[in-house]
Amino acid sequence: MSNPKDTNQAWGGRFSEATDAFVARFTASVNFDQRLAHHDIQGSLAHAAMLTHIGVLTKDELHAIQAGLGEILTEIENGTFEWSIALEDVHMNVEAALTAKIGVAGKKLHTGRSRNDQVATDIRLWLRDEIDAINAELLRLQRGILDLAEREANTIMPGFTHLQTAQPITFGHHLMAWFEMLVRDFGRLQDCRKRLNQSPLGSAALAGTTYPINREMTAELLGFDSPTKNSLDSVGDRDFAIEFCAFASILLTHLSRASEELILWTSAQFNFIEIPDRFCTGSSIMPQKKNPDVPELVRGKTGRVNGHLIALLTLMKSQPLAYNKDNQEDKEPLFDTVDTVKDCLRAFADMIPALQSKPENMNEAALRGFSTATDLADYLVRKGIPFRDSHEIVGKSVAYGLAENKDLSEMTLAELQVFSEIIEDDVFDVLTLEGSVAARNHIGGTAPNQVRAAITAARETLKSL
Ligand code: ARG
Repeated sequence: MSNPKDTNQAWGGRFSEATDAFVARFTASVNFDQRLAHHDIQGSLAHAAMLTHIGVLTKDELHAIQAGLGEILTEIENGTFEWSIALEDVHMNVEAALTAKIGVAGKKLHTGRSRNDQVATDIRLWLRDEIDAINAELLRLQRGILDLAEREANTIMPGFTHLQTAQPITFGHHLMAWFEMLVRDFGRLQDCRKRLNQSPLGSAALAGTTYPINREMTAELLGFDSPTKNSLDSVGDRDFAIEFCAFASILLTHLSRASEELILWTSAQFNFIEIPDRFCTGSSIMPQKKNPDVPELVRGKTGRVNGHLIALLTLMKSQPLAYNKDNQEDKEPLFDTVDTVKDCLRAFADMIPALQSKPENMNEAALRGFSTATDLADYLVRKGIPFRDSHEIVGKSVAYGLAENKDLSEMTLAELQVFSEIIEDDVFDVLTLEGSVAARNHIGGTAPNQVRAAITAARETLKSL
């Protein structure tokens, strides 16, 4: 029989044989949860301070714990800390190292605490910092979009529905649509941060603890808004991680849509924009190729982020209260989601302000495809023709234009009057692209002055954040 001493010191007492080597590896999380070390130590320092405050630890013990954890943190940051699979996870690795350094005081740190509330605290602390970093990157991207939208407030391009030319719009207006999507993503991230910012510490294994702990104190030391209200819920749920992944999925969905448009617009068929070479790569066989890899990858990474959301939802589904080992599986999807979101935002925030538009090509494309047909219909309505009849009249003039290969604005007055005698010389004011966009002059419309007003208002909002 193997030596029971080979089993984990933190819980080996009731075991009569050592953990199977494969099982030790299978159940260990240290290879990935060591990423939480900094926040694990932050949580332990607050817990130790609170234990001292209530008289469970002496001041000397606290100072020893503080010094020991400080050394461990330095070793981890220098890469000299020795992680052990046998010690299962980040929590027990740090605790064992502390005890090795300071002796008996290290063994007292876990008083009134369980790894269950410890890990729930660590992930929240870690995710809160990551959310703040993501926030900053999201704002940088939003500012980049505003700068580009300002430069492109007058640039006319075709707007599409069904990817068919619909009506002329300004490029600035299109960019501001992306901006608005990100405003909502930003709000979702704030909501997520607000809900996760409660301290589970003190929930212990599941039911709380018999020590007269002060949960307000640890909550405050760790920058949480308050302690959580139910110990079972606190150690059992990972909905804050699910919520973050839902935010990430929606954000990436938005970025994937923008990516798809960038990819289309750089193609020879559209030729609306140029992505600078430093964001693109070439082909090893086709010398002419310049591929929009960055937006393509962002579009592709949306798939893995969506996968992580489903993984976490499935992980949590039907779990009985309170903590189950299943929850150890929350980390890798969450970590990868955070990394992916940060990379994609960085790629976009760097690339967007560097985009170069090709206004002549956009304008040219807007002139094709009868994009001012609705303007002609609205013109006829203003002259007293019911909308359905004007729709029919314009439909016929478009059919004529298709046959003759002529845009509406290229037809003579006499040609247009074949379809309705009511048409007069002033029709050409509405058939130009500039007239068409300028006429959509209300909140949320594509007129350049509305786009500028939206940009100004957006800058004000960003300033107040
Ligand atoms: N490594 C564990 C996790 O990530 C920590 C909590 C373990 N608790 C337990 N009772 N086994 O979930």
